[in-house]
Amino acid sequence: MIKNKTSKVIFVMGVSGAGKTSIGQLLAKNLHVDFIDADDHHPTSNIEKMSAGIPLTDEDRLPWLDNLHQIAKNHLNIGGVITCSALKEKYRDRLSRSIQDEIVWIYLKGSYDLIYKRMQNRNHHFMDAAMLKSQFETLEEPKDAIEIDIVDAPEIIVEKIINEIMMKAEIGVIGMGVMGKSLSRNLARNDFKVALYNRHVVGKEENIAIDFKQAYPELNQAQAFDDLQKFIQALERPRKVIVMVNAGAAIDAVLKSLLENLEAGDIVIDAGNSHYKETNRRIQLLQDNGLYFIGTGVSGGEKGALEGPSIMPSGDKLAYQKIQKYLENIAAKDDNGRPCCTYVGEQGSGHFVKMIHNGIEYAEMQLLAECNSILKHQGLSNEAIADIFEDWMKDLGSYLLGITVDILRKKDGDVYLLDRIMDKAANKGTGKWATSCIAESGVAATMIPAALFARYLSFFKEQRQMAAAHFSIQNKSSEERKVAKEELKNAYQFSRIINHHQGFSLIKSVSDQNEWKVNLSEIARIWTEGCIIKSDFMKSLANTSKDENPILFSEPWSSILKKSHKDIQNVVIKNVTNQLHVPCLMEALNYFHGIKIADGSANLIQAQRDYFGAHTYQLKGDESGKKYHTKWSD
Ligand code: 6PG
Repeated sequence: MIKNKTSKVIFVMGVSGAGKTSIGQLLAKNLHVDFIDADDHHPTSNIEKMSAGIPLTDEDRLPWLDNLHQIAKNHLNIGGVITCSALKEKYRDRLSRSIQDEIVWIYLKGSYDLIYKRMQNRNHHFMDAAMLKSQFETLEEPKDAIEIDIVDAPEIIVEKIINEIMMKAEIGVIGMGVMGKSLSRNLARNDFKVALYNRHVVGKEENIAIDFKQAYPELNQAQAFDDLQKFIQALERPRKVIVMVNAGAAIDAVLKSLLENLEAGDIVIDAGNSHYKETNRRIQLLQDNGLYFIGTGVSGGEKGALEGPSIMPSGDKLAYQKIQKYLENIAAKDDNGRPCCTYVGEQGSGHFVKMIHNGIEYAEMQLLAECNSILKHQGLSNEAIADIFEDWMKDLGSYLLGITVDILRKKDGDVYLLDRIMDKAANKGTGKWATSCIAESGVAATMIPAALFARYLSFFKEQRQMAAAHFSIQNKSSEERKVAKEELKNAYQFSRIINHHQGFSLIKSVSDQNEWKVNLSEIARIWTEGCIIKSDFMKSLANTSKDENPILFSEPWSSILKKSHKDIQNVVIKNVTNQLHVPCLMEALNYFHGIKIADGSANLIQAQRDYFGAHTYQLKGDESGKKYHTKWSD
């Protein structure tokens, strides 16, 4: 059952005699919205002219069209039906300028003969053949209107119009994987009319979207397809299509078929974890075809996508504004009720920011894995470690710390599930991309690569087993192995500050290089809810990082770093002697030592470069920036 509810403004157009007024009135009545007859809104000068039998010029019509445009705008969120002949395209353009997406054009189409016959049969209404002919001559048939044949009775026509309007989905989702399904349900729960599509692969993927729709009551109003053309036809214009398929070749394959079916002005939104440079390329590809491509980071996993993810869109700003309401409605809300969704910037900046989000996520996860292994090495049980982490939640609360407590406590029968899980960490690629980007950008964001390489090392299970047997580890007494809990907590906090400092500095640097003008405090704000790295720390960053001062030098973080420096040093020293693998804790400390050395060791590197390659060097205190070369040996 389709609900008769629309907030759209509906223009009913066509030549005189096509039945605009009776259809328009009936339509407005059925939709419970205002009815406006354009003829009632002519300026006095036009009325006088018309009464004198003088035909109106295009110029005369301008103030009248502007009146109607304003009336349409006044009805934008409440809906309304406006009947207006609007025979020329330029009239329709004037009526719909800046509100194209909020209005629907209905074109009542009928033949000259039919209309002429009807006119003759009507009492008190006379139009001679010449006048009707001139209407048909003036008529420029609309391309983007819903075309309705006027042969039927008004009741049937109105029913057809309502069906057409109500049946059109506002937004479509391609790809009914875990994330696509959750996003679709989220859209439907927010009362958006959604069309769902999943490809049809015989024996492998059959009726996926249709079965999915049937499984969830909130998808009652949704339309499901495994035929791409039908899916496209079900969407209102400009079409808005969220693509939620695997990053890489799958996106390009979907884009190829979309390009064959979509039209100029349509908007494709890639909500997967695509590489931002690929997004740049796809934006250009669609732009070359008159379409828009919005690349958007979406974080929060399956649950987040369903209940409110953090959303990081980028690309053409005007195109973004056309999809803004959908993304903002489905996004998580921050503590002030604002959506965790913000326009990040031009090009693929949204996917770039999501990639760095994932890089930060890698290091945050690795830090927790290291803290867990340090505590385990001291002989603590999973429950005892969970208790410690739970205690940390009080002042270092984060989503990742919270789920780690749950994971540590999860049992599979009598044993802890965690102890049964193979210690080989997989990855889907965003950490690798972030690491390549770090190398390319020239920013020393060292913790993300450290976390990535820890995952890579974990993967060499057999080699690790061989090495464990080959290189003996001297066992220490439990007292020698002990790391003070408070020291570990401080070391963890220290490392998180460095990790976030590095991540945000990286975003700033790449944003500057690309002139994206990414707003760092907005990014921190949209990461306060919905995403994997949401935390109390992120909330403080959202409130304090507005001046874009690097986190390292911002309070209270700067003081915390000073205060816990000794603690992380002790933790790292202890774990070096204990021969534990704690690359992210070590890297946090290492970076801190590197950044706070005003006079470093790179003078020797420069001398060596100049020695063997005549690469030149600069001199301390020489402000001119002059480059020197020395003949170092005979
Ligand atoms: C998120 C996650 C999400 C996904 C990662 C996993 O923000 O919701 O980051 O994007 O879980 O891609 O990445 P790895 O498989 O590389 O760990």
